[in-house]
Amino acid sequence: MTPTPRAHAFNTAAAQYAASRPSYPPALFASVEEFIGRPLADCRVADIGAGTGIATALLRERGARVIAVEPGGTMAAQFREALPDVPVVRGDGNALPLADASQDLITYAQSWHWTDTARSVPEALRVLRPGGALAVWWNTSAFDVPWIAAQDERVAAHCGGTPRSGRPRPDDGDAVRLAGLADLRVARRQVRWSRTVPLDTHLANISSRSAFLVLDAADNNAFLARERDHLRRLFPDERVAETYVVDLLVAARP
Ligand SMILES: C[S@@+](CC[C@H](N)C(=O)[O-])C[C@H]1O[C@@H](n2cnc3c(N)ncnc32)[C@H](O)[C@@H]1O
Repeated sequence: MTPTPRAHAFNTAAAQYAASRPSYPPALFASVEEFIGRPLADCRVADIGAGTGIATALLRERGARVIAVEPGGTMAAQFREALPDVPVVRGDGNALPLADASQDLITYAQSWHWTDTARSVPEALRVLRPGGALAVWWNTSAFDVPWIAAQDERVAAHCGGTPRSGRPRPDDGDAVRLAGLADLRVARRQVRWSRTVPLDTHLANISSRSAFLVLDAADNNAFLARERDHLRRLFPDERVAETYVVDLLVAARP
């Protein structure tokens, strides 16, 4: 399937994305290993929607034998620059360019929601070996931190959406259903973590979101200038402590 325009918008900001997006904590990969019942070392992993390779690099650091799949040309080019010795294939989750029963684990870091689960679930099951697993996860903002909730309201006003901070976190059943995985045996874990980054990195991270990338650049710049003023008051040393909760779902192939 051709990526939707908003999914495709990442292509325009691949370098910014690579430099500013949050990574994933070691506890996430420890949880994946616990759920799949084996270490990632020597595991055959296909990382789908790999983008610039943020998750792929961490999977490889744990010894996984990773192949990446990415639909976006610019993202794939950035990936090749960052991880020249990891194979990356152009393709998407709805029609995986991978052989039947060829992988122990399929991962989607922050990319599962771009797929059509009526197609991507059967595709994952086709490509996984019996007993293999599909792991999908997202870094979500910790909206119980007051400044993060307040910023979310400002971002929503700018991007024309409703604040995400007002919505309750989905319970396990809802999370599994929303992910289109209700027919499978799924384990869920939420992993809280933080990183402290320069103010510029924080602002670049916010504005690399797909909702920003489709807006007028001058409007975005004006918003970011106001946001810089807000955050300087909160973080006078211009070091921003971002807090995330990674929402992890691991589905076993029957
Ligand atoms: C938010 S980025 C995540 C990138 C990377 N996994 C990471 O953790 O930083 C989402 C990625 O999904 C890709 N994507 C868009 N549509 C897709 C689809 N149908 N199947 C797989 N990936 C898709 C985009 O090109 C983009 O690289």
